[in-house]
Amino acid sequence: MSVPAVAAVLCPLGSHRVVEPAGALPQTAWKVDNTPHARANEILCAVETLNIDSASFKQITEACGDDPRAIGAHIMATVHERGKQHNAVTGSGGMFIGRVLEIGAVLAARDDIAVGDRLASLVSLTLTPLFLDAVDDVDVATGQVRVRGKAILFESGIYARLPDDLPIEVALAVLDVAGAPAQVRRLTKPGATVCVIGADGKSGLLSCAQARERAGAGGRVVGIVPDASTPGARLLVEHGYVDDLIVADARNALAVLERLPAALPALADLVVSCVNVGGTEVASILCCKDHGTVYFFSMATSFTAAALGAEGIGKDVNMMVGNGYAKGHAVVALQTLRDHPAINDYFTARYAVRG
Ligand SMILES: NC(=O)c1ccc[n+]([C@@H]2O[C@H](COP(=O)([O-])OP(=O)(O)OC[C@H]3O[C@@H](n4cnc5c(N)ncnc54)[C@H](OP(=O)(O)O)[C@@H]3O)[C@@H](O)[C@H]2O)c1
Repeated sequence: MSVPAVAAVLCPLGSHRVVEPAGALPQTAWKVDNTPHARANEILCAVETLNIDSASFKQITEACGDDPRAIGAHIMATVHERGKQHNAVTGSGGMFIGRVLEIGAVLAARDDIAVGDRLASLVSLTLTPLFLDAVDDVDVATGQVRVRGKAILFESGIYARLPDDLPIEVALAVLDVAGAPAQVRRLTKPGATVCVIGADGKSGLLSCAQARERAGAGGRVVGIVPDASTPGARLLVEHGYVDDLIVADARNALAVLERLPAALPALADLVVSCVNVGGTEVASILCCKDHGTVYFFSMATSFTAAALGAEGIGKDVNMMVGNGYAKGHAVVALQTLRDHPAINDYFTARYAVRG
């Protein structure tokens, strides 16, 4: 067996694990060394479940014809080839839940983590060295994949101890998208109008809850969904998380535009893109008023389509890349669930009860 050539110096960002290309950091690397042993500045975890990022999982399921075995084989092949679950088509990853097996000597003084703790990684699988023995089960409905394997967290990596009051599949689903509700909480001003695209998915529901809370009685929250009959869409209306729903395919900018005078006459101060498909950038920008903000949380966002789309329709809007990290995001996301029993029930029914 050949030993990958890796940098000898231990880097807090994990560059010592980069196999190729030289000079890259783990996220941009094509391949990382996934040897499942902790170096002095690393944490080794036994991985139980992967939550594959929604844009990535949709692409993989489509390529594999919804066949769980083929999806499992696809994931094994990616990890074998790249040393990490980094989807070459969407460029996105996901996160994992596991137990701490070993803490390197450099990190031994950390008091927030101990061997045996169960944690969720809050850094992307696209930069996490992952070694898989097997994929045991693929839940096609949720993108959660039960595996046996090991992963490495770097010195700079962030993680959250799993809460005691939530089923782990629910915590995993929420923590995967924790950046969205945290950013929406930060960006929504009292009295603001907020439009959430892909409002009935995980990040969409949590974002609507935060937008409703922050915008308050004088604000307005509008969701865009492709189908008003989904449990998520019904919840949004029945529990008043949205004032209105636009039922449209957000890839069809003209269809969205047609509905704006009725649903968003003054357009939105903040537009949040939570879709898992590409081609929705222009519709997102159309929903935003001049000098408003479009927060592209979606991993299916094209920088080119957003930049040229805004220019092409003459919109002077601020556009934010969906940084998955915001200070305290895990706490905000989990608290959003605790504060909103209807959303908690939805996540529990969808993620905690698996056949
Ligand atoms: N920035 C980050 O760090 C980060 C982290 C995690 C995830 N993400 C990304 O964030 C996005 C949302 O993730 P998620 O886990 O919340 O996904 P999700 O639960 O699968 O929700 C996606 C939503 O998009 C809706 N949608 C799909 N096609 C649409 C269309 N053409 N028009 C309008 N709505 C449409 C879906 O509606 P239906 O279900 O009715 O089809 C669904 O409600 C994904 O792109 C994911 O990759 C980003």
